[in-house]
Amino acid sequence: MSSIKVIGSGKLKGEIKIQGSKNAALPIIAATVLNKGVTILRNCPRILDVFHMINVLKELGCITNWEGSTLIVDTTTITSTKVSESSVQKMRSSILFLGALLGRNQEVSIAYPGGCSIGKRPIDYHLDSIKSMNVSQEFLGEDKSIIYCHTDKVMGSDIFLKFPSVGATQNVILTAVLAEGVTRIFNAAREPEVFELCNFLVSAGARICGKGTAFIEVEGVNRLHDVDYRLSPDRIVAGTYMAAVAAAGGEVILLDAPTRQIESVIRVLDKIGCSIKTTDEYMRISCNRRPLPYDMLKTQPYPGFPTDMQSQLMSVLCLANGKSTIVEEIFESRFQNVNELKKMGAMIAETENKAIVSGVMHLEGAQVIAHDLRAGAALVIAAVAAQGETIIREATSIERGYEDICRDFNSLGANVRYCSNNIL
Ligand code: UD1
Repeated sequence: MSSIKVIGSGKLKGEIKIQGSKNAALPIIAATVLNKGVTILRNCPRILDVFHMINVLKELGCITNWEGSTLIVDTTTITSTKVSESSVQKMRSSILFLGALLGRNQEVSIAYPGGCSIGKRPIDYHLDSIKSMNVSQEFLGEDKSIIYCHTDKVMGSDIFLKFPSVGATQNVILTAVLAEGVTRIFNAAREPEVFELCNFLVSAGARICGKGTAFIEVEGVNRLHDVDYRLSPDRIVAGTYMAAVAAAGGEVILLDAPTRQIESVIRVLDKIGCSIKTTDEYMRISCNRRPLPYDMLKTQPYPGFPTDMQSQLMSVLCLANGKSTIVEEIFESRFQNVNELKKMGAMIAETENKAIVSGVMHLEGAQVIAHDLRAGAALVIAAVAAQGETIIREATSIERGYEDICRDFNSLGANVRYCSNNIL
């Protein structure tokens, strides 16, 4: 397990190009199995989560190749419909192969994903919805942890989601694309990554109406065709570097920032004192004062403030000139950074899903642990803005979503590097 060593360096200055979107790439990689042929995915991020999805494709018998940041997937031959337990344990998003394999082969066997560091993360909405599409489900194995789904024909259905779950919406869409008849999803997730999955599928020949709205209609087609598709830039990676400027100060230009997708983040950063300018080509963010506090930051489904940016904003608000309140409404256990930030001198009081952050003048370097991907990135932000040396242990989780967070921060003048634990 690698660590990251950061020497606090203060203001950031420079330019970064934002990588392709992780949360758009993962469902689209699963979707490639719906087409018996070749898919070209441009601007695909080279991150651990993408590598895990590629490993699942290989387990199924598909062929994959990289050419720079272009991923080429040939799914002409699929020799297995089983997604191994170890794949699901490595990455929850492998659950998206449930819908994709059902659509392609009318059969799938996949291990039940457990909870993770940010919450219980059940898949009941996925399973209940897919069951209503003429799909039988059996739970196999000694502990009934293998889900075996099969059907002679997936049938379109009306699906009412209790909550606009991103994964459940995507899994239903994947199941519905090659089904017989029409599937209507009520209370669908409106996240840009659902929109992007629909865009990809439509460009491969699917029939989908209502992309980006809470009501999506999928009319099943007989087959998809080969497609050459370019993924959007990653809104959370862009937001992470914006938050870093808010915490450490300075001026940074983000090339390829998906401005419209992060309006809620821009609004918050603007309110706490950042100056943000957007054009068609780039976004410039600058901050030359201590951040102002934010009264009530609540995470919500899109277009609300994203839970995936909550940890990064907590790092920023630790340094604000006053008291802020953060409420986490999406996941149960997403305040694991509270204890880590306290080791750095932060003042945070936490009760269930609410954190009250009293800003301090300075954070101090410390030994901390990255409990999950975004919490880890948030600790890098805190460490860059802090005084002294910070060691972030279990930093491999950051590589799940950032191509090279050390390279990016160093290009902005920070001092951030990977090191193996035995040389610390
Ligand atoms: C996706 C994103 C993740 C983001 C999250 C919320 C990917 C790969 N991951 O995760 O980065 O933080 O959306 O924007 O795109 N729930 C249930 N039952 C279900 C499904 C979900 O109770 O069957 C609950 C979850 O436990 C959670 C909430 O619904 O509390 C939202 O989860 P969901 O939108 O499904 O998140 P993911 O798709 O897992």
